[in-house]
Amino acid sequence: MRTVRTATPRRYLMCPPEHFRVTYSINPWMDPAKPVDPVLALFQWEELRDRYRSLGHTVEVLDPVADLPDMVFAANGATVVDGRVLGARFFNAERTDEAPAHLAWFRRNGYTEVREPQHINEAEGDFAVTSQWILAGMGFRSSPLSHSEAQEFFGRPVIGLELTDPRYYHLDTAFAVLDDAAGEVMYFPDAFSPGSRKVLARLFPDALLATAADAAALGLNAVSDGRHVVLPRGATGLFAPLRERGFEPVAVDLSELHKAGGSVKCCTQELR
Ligand code: ARG
Repeated sequence: MRTVRTATPRRYLMCPPEHFRVTYSINPWMDPAKPVDPVLALFQWEELRDRYRSLGHTVEVLDPVADLPDMVFAANGATVVDGRVLGARFFNAERTDEAPAHLAWFRRNGYTEVREPQHINEAEGDFAVTSQWILAGMGFRSSPLSHSEAQEFFGRPVIGLELTDPRYYHLDTAFAVLDDAAGEVMYFPDAFSPGSRKVLARLFPDALLATAADAAALGLNAVSDGRHVVLPRGATGLFAPLRERGFEPVAVDLSELHKAGGSVKCCTQELR
């Protein structure tokens, strides 16, 4: 019999792509020579925001800053667990100034436990949270030193995972939490080192494994509320296996943002 899934209402922080462009390249998806359509990008982002709201979630909006074209990827700006906020420290100079904009938002909004990090971490780009653990990516952006910093700050065990394919430079491009309470996840094994693949198989023996095609459609850059899994519409191979597990895939089109190497999850920071 199919598992009955329950959605739990979430709070998300998002930042509209008002200044979104591809003016530099810090991952293999980004080609400044390829045009992006900023009007379409904004339209697609608004559809995502409205979709969350229609699913019953709360969306807070962070004001975008000019000259920070990647700021739309709000997941990279901070990690919030149990109301505690660990700020980001970006690997690339082009994104450095996004971190203080996030910290300022949390301070203005009444968060008292706000930590400016010592080590490089690109927040939920590399930190995935379940009720038991924090899975943490390394290899391209976040420093392994940030893993112990996060473990100490949140008091949750942090499990490091080594990313090896430059197209999947952040953990959230290759791994997604489907049910945080039950620890159900999906991932693309080839994005990880052999040892990390073994760790994943040990922790999540029943995980949904994505194909290369669905990973390339950024299908793992998904956001789940425990029932609805919002994901890029090109990741068609994931729809049936998600349904078989009782989830409801909700397909969205973020094609313009894919040109910067980001999709649904990158645009969505969860305020836990
Ligand atoms: N262009 C951005 C970068 O390379 C994309 C970030 C995508 N965000 C994410 N959470 N994976 O940093």
